[in-house]
Amino acid sequence: MEKFSFLFFAVSLVLITAEEVHAVMGSYRHHHGSVKLFVFGDSYVDTGNWGKSVATSWKLPYGITFPGKPAGRFSDGRVLTDYIASFLGIRSPVPYQWRKMGTKLLPYGMNFAYGGTGVFNTLVNGPNMTTQINFFQQLLEEKWYTKHDLDSSIALVCLAGNDYGTYLAGKGTMQGLPAFTTSVVHQLSLNLKRIHELGVKKIAVTAMGPVGCLPVSTASSSYQNCSETQNSVSKFHNQILQQTVQKLNNQSKESAFVILNLYGAFMSALKGQENHLGNSKFNFPLKPCCMGVTSEYSCGSVDVNGTKRYTVCEHPESSFFWDKVHPSQNGWHAVYSALRPFLHQLY
Ligand SMILES: *[C@@H]1O[C@H](CO)[C@@H](O)[C@H](O)[C@H]1NC(C)=O
Ligand SMILES: *[C@@H]1O[C@H](CO)[C@@H](O)[C@H](O)[C@H]1NC(C)=O
Ligand SMILES: *[C@@H]1O[C@H](CO)[C@@H](O)[C@H](O)[C@H]1NC(C)=O
Ligand SMILES: *[C@@H]1O[C@H](CO)[C@@H](O)[C@H](O)[C@H]1NC(C)=O
Repeated sequence: MEKFSFLFFAVSLVLITAEEVHAVMGSYRHHHGSVKLFVFGDSYVDTGNWGKSVATSWKLPYGITFPGKPAGRFSDGRVLTDYIASFLGIRSPVPYQWRKMGTKLLPYGMNFAYGGTGVFNTLVNGPNMTTQINFFQQLLEEKWYTKHDLDSSIALVCLAGNDYGTYLAGKGTMQGLPAFTTSVVHQLSLNLKRIHELGVKKIAVTAMGPVGCLPVSTASSSYQNCSETQNSVSKFHNQILQQTVQKLNNQSKESAFVILNLYGAFMSALKGQENHLGNSKFNFPLKPCCMGVTSEYSCGSVDVNGTKRYTVCEHPESSFFWDKVHPSQNGWHAVYSALRPFLHQLY
């Protein structure tokens, strides 16, 4: 039996003021005035909602590439949110936890995502997606944003798979997974509808990436082979999601809901990585850059006496994965490049 241990834990925050998002000015702003981005989900899009004391994302070596020190992202640098924001021609929106300090960033929207969470409660004690949307609704009631603001807004909703990680950790078997997938996607569709009903005009939801290709799944093959069994979890989720979103769009007048195909984007980015690296010494595109020295440790681990118990690769800029479950900035950039041809759907 395969061991299922993928969980997208994100723990921790960002120096918002120092943030210098590499903005590729999209044409979006010219058409729509000031677009705002509202973000819901987990560590693939969290830019710093967890507290500094709880999250590994606030520990070295997270953030070493961008912004240069740990800042609450679960990567060495930028994550999906930052690239989507740059596509829209705006700065990365302020994390919800920092809204009172991040007034300069308020015009760009807000990020409600917490690493490790899902549509249901998971192994981390963070706000599930329903609670994240409650935070959003509360702020709308408090008039942080007007209806007019929402007219030119986009939501980014990301579900990397923590619900499945939690389910499989509890059950230890894939039995019952199809029914569970149906309930995950059903809850997700209620969430998407609710965000739309709150006034957001366009909602992008990520398909699941290939969880069987994450280092946590490929370690047993020395990072050589993706696990097809675990990838089937993603594929089934994505199939149900596709049908569900088609139905939602059928019910809404404009096609309000768009799927961002992370599965295909990860796969083509990984392939590009292979070709690019060819027969060079980096011939394990699935191997993470940052790892614990042994399996008891992970990226960011230190002993009680402060001794580092992890290693960081020599060239983070050429690795796809940063740690066991998260892409590096280079990885996210490659994923973004693969998604880019489809992002006109956000207009
Ligand atoms: C979300 O979390 C709240 C608080 O723990 C809980 O009451 C609610 O049932 C959860 N929602 C879902 C859909 O799991
Ligand atoms: C990886 O897959 C290849 C091709 O399917 C196979 O030949 C090889 O034995 C696998 N390696 C491991 C370590 O499982
Ligand atoms: C969309 O709605 C039309 C008419 O209501 C229906 O015939 C069609 O089957 C629907 N398509 C999907 C994918 O639900
Ligand atoms: C720190 O503690 C570990 C055991 O936990 C020990 O092996 C190591 O030598 C110690 N390092 C220092 C610098 O004291």
